Amino acid sequence: MTQDSEKRSILVTSALPYANAPLHLGHILEHTQTDIWVRYQRLYGNNCTYVCADDAHGTPIMLKAEELEITPEELIASIYEEHKSTFKEFKISHDNFYTTHSEENKILSERIFFSLRSKDLIDQKKINQLFDTKKEMFLSDRYVKGSCPVCHEQDQYGDNCEKCSATYDATELKDPISVISGSKPIIKESEHLFFKLSKLKKEIINWLNNSNIQEPVRNKINEWLQGELRDWDISRDSPYFGFEIPDHKDKYFYVWLDAPIGYLASHLNYLKKIDAESNFEAFWKPDSSSEVFHFIGKDIMYFHTLFFPVMLSESDFKTPDGVFVHGFLTLNGEKMSKSRGNFISAENYLTNLDPDYLRYFFASKLGTGVDDIDLNLEDFKQKSNSDLVNKYANIASRTARFLNKDFGGVLSENLDQPELLEEFEEKAKTISGLYEKLELSKAIKEIMALADKANQYIDSKEPWVLIKDESNKDLVHAICTTSLNLFRIITIMLHPVIPGFTNKAFEFLNENNIAWENMETPLTGCKINEFSPIVTRIDENHINNLLGN
Ligand code: MSP
Ligand code: ZN
Repeated sequence: MTQDSEKRSILVTSALPYANAPLHLGHILEHTQTDIWVRYQRLYGNNCTYVCADDAHGTPIMLKAEELEITPEELIASIYEEHKSTFKEFKISHDNFYTTHSEENKILSERIFFSLRSKDLIDQKKINQLFDTKKEMFLSDRYVKGSCPVCHEQDQYGDNCEKCSATYDATELKDPISVISGSKPIIKESEHLFFKLSKLKKEIINWLNNSNIQEPVRNKINEWLQGELRDWDISRDSPYFGFEIPDHKDKYFYVWLDAPIGYLASHLNYLKKIDAESNFEAFWKPDSSSEVFHFIGKDIMYFHTLFFPVMLSESDFKTPDGVFVHGFLTLNGEKMSKSRGNFISAENYLTNLDPDYLRYFFASKLGTGVDDIDLNLEDFKQKSNSDLVNKYANIASRTARFLNKDFGGVLSENLDQPELLEEFEEKAKTISGLYEKLELSKAIKEIMALADKANQYIDSKEPWVLIKDESNKDLVHAICTTSLNLFRIITIMLHPVIPGFTNKAFEFLNENNIAWENMETPLTGCKINEFSPIVTRIDENHINNLLGN
């Protein structure tokens, strides 16, 4: 049981999706993993705040708006509404979903920039870059193509060669072409601001030693730390969609500077909404007892483990207590790709199926590794039907009939095998430990083993046979009450994963204050509601429709 005094105060984030495209199931994987952890923490009694935002800045967003002949502000406003509603439909329980294009984020980004500058951690250097004279803009690596300076392979981007894996500077490309205008760029000089990461190795190691990081991620960071850390270019020239850098006209913060600060900005905006703005500074001070955890994909580890923690520590904010990294979602064994038709948008999923099936599937696949996760649709259908319908929901449907029909919807005062409930409660300790460590697939395995146990119990008692003899009535009542209590414990355990299905179950159980510790007090003698199916089967059509977009 969690006493008020031992309640942890936790802030959790998912990576901020770019505001230039609809969400896909990869985003949903990340948010589901985060949301399950958040819901578990709340269910367990901790104070857990979950914030996110759209990442609204950068060149791709500026160019996308141009293409649509709207302003970037209009683009990010419409995508924002879309993202927000999609997350809501997937039951992602953000306390706040904000945008990085906000006043709070501007103020915090400037504050951090000033702090770093006052500690002499910002350098100013002239650099050469490719410049598109037609479009009148500097070109970042992804906007130039040319031949590899090492192996001469054609059609390579400005940072590395897909053929020989060489990394190079875009200015070294042979016969460069601007991807935007098709013209030949020139080399032009411009002054840029750099965050002196090279001076902060010790601080990064210090952070690393004191935070919760998965082993493979730690190894990768150590690899980076063994090499030389390059100072980080945090400025971009106009035209750019972002925040202008104070004292540097026509220079903008690089999107990756203000994006993670967007976590703090969304938190601040949330505190304002609940009239608790004054808690912000105490929450974020370096020695605060609060905890901060970031959930991200493996492609953005560098920003979250090298830049961000020291940006925070060097500007007197607390650093993240953990960064949790997941692999990428593949679909039927292949990389998701819209152009190749191997793709499911979040919207298309929602028009076909209840999000809880997918939430459950993801949970059953996710652990602490950073390997990719495959959504094999056949496997998805099987797992939903066998675990959720045949194992979980079946426990209730097999006994509800008797309780509703033969016992007036009232539970017995007596349990048939209280020791079975105790066994389940004992297992709950293991399962909460697995949730805490984000060993979700292991937690699901344990929970399903309990569902098997509950079904075996019902099989062995055969209430449908016993009920034929009037003298067994009390016994059948106690058996069904016991079964329903086993079902209830499993429902509480699954609540973070499939909140929609479990809410239906809680409605049937006539319960509304749901807490992990409730499983210690069984329901006896109370009224339950009329049973209606909690989970229905997925059939082949559902699956075919998912891919038919
Ligand atoms: N805007 C940045 C994040 C800034 S965080 C301060 C970004 N956006 S993104 O939209 O490209 O990705 C958002 C998150 O989704 C990232 O954590 C990324 O790893 C994750 N995923 C994107 N595609 C994914 C899959 N196919 N599978 C799982 N996660 C994926 O990066
Ligand atoms: Zn090459």
